[in-house]
Amino acid sequence: MDINKYTPKYKISQGNLLRLSDMTTEDIFELLYLAKAMKKKFKVGEHPPVLKNKTIALLFGNVSTRTRVSFEMGIRQLGGDYIFLPKNETQLSRGESIKDTAVMLGRYGLSAVVLRAFTDAEVSEFARYSSIPVINGISDETHPLQILSDLFTIWEVKGRFDKLKIAYIGDGNNIANSLIMGCSKVNMDIAIDSPHGYSPARDVVERGMQFGNVLITDDVTEAVRGADIVYTDVFISMNDEDDEEKKRILARYRVTKETMALAKEDAVFMHCMPAHRGEEVSAEVIDGPQSIVYDQAENRLHINKAVLALLTK
Ligand code: CP
Repeated sequence: MDINKYTPKYKISQGNLLRLSDMTTEDIFELLYLAKAMKKKFKVGEHPPVLKNKTIALLFGNVSTRTRVSFEMGIRQLGGDYIFLPKNETQLSRGESIKDTAVMLGRYGLSAVVLRAFTDAEVSEFARYSSIPVINGISDETHPLQILSDLFTIWEVKGRFDKLKIAYIGDGNNIANSLIMGCSKVNMDIAIDSPHGYSPARDVVERGMQFGNVLITDDVTEAVRGADIVYTDVFISMNDEDDEEKKRILARYRVTKETMALAKEDAVFMHCMPAHRGEEVSAEVIDGPQSIVYDQAENRLHINKAVLALLTK
């Protein structure tokens, strides 16, 4: 399905946003079209009050800059309110169950809850018991909001998805998993260049292959040749222990100008951030003319607004 021939209805089939594998291509396009409309309004100072009288809980288990600020500002701009709940200040940190927390949060008049830094299994369990929409703000295995924002950014910059190729270089983490699902569902080819032992989850790759072209390789030239987009992420994910051996293995997966030279001439560089210059990417690439990382970060705002607007309708 071609996004540019799609007519949005501004509704989605899901009551929650847990992972991209649950979403149809139409759901993804609906969110991207609404994000585009939200961004257009934002740029001229218009803020539709679609969250008026609605309060969103932000239940966060780890630190955040982009996810937290884009949700807090997005909710304010849409006329809503929020409660920021650091997980370690709730009874979850003292052993209260996911079930009790989910059931109880549904009793206070909240309109949705954003979970950050829970496991994928906990996100599913929370959603099973929740009477209000649950949004996954990052889990150990997935980061759907980031990839929706990235797809929106790619659509803005490249104007289409069909026949585009994205090369992801580095650790096969939650970003790689969600990129495989997201790109496959919008008909982009994806190549992952990861070292043995750090490839994306096998079940995610197999699932992605049902929808699109997914190549897993340990050959950077094969991955990046003909790519329209080169993407990387940190070597050590946020909740993982620092691991010098992993950093040593991943060191040759750094995206440099030599890596970018393997891609198409008009290729862009993407990174979900935070970034470590000199580790997974050189400063001259992330700060250079091919980088669109700040657009990705900004688009978190517009995607979050679209997600909240459609899920709390
Ligand atoms: N990319 C991302 O999730 O950023 P934060 O960790 O700052 O929220």
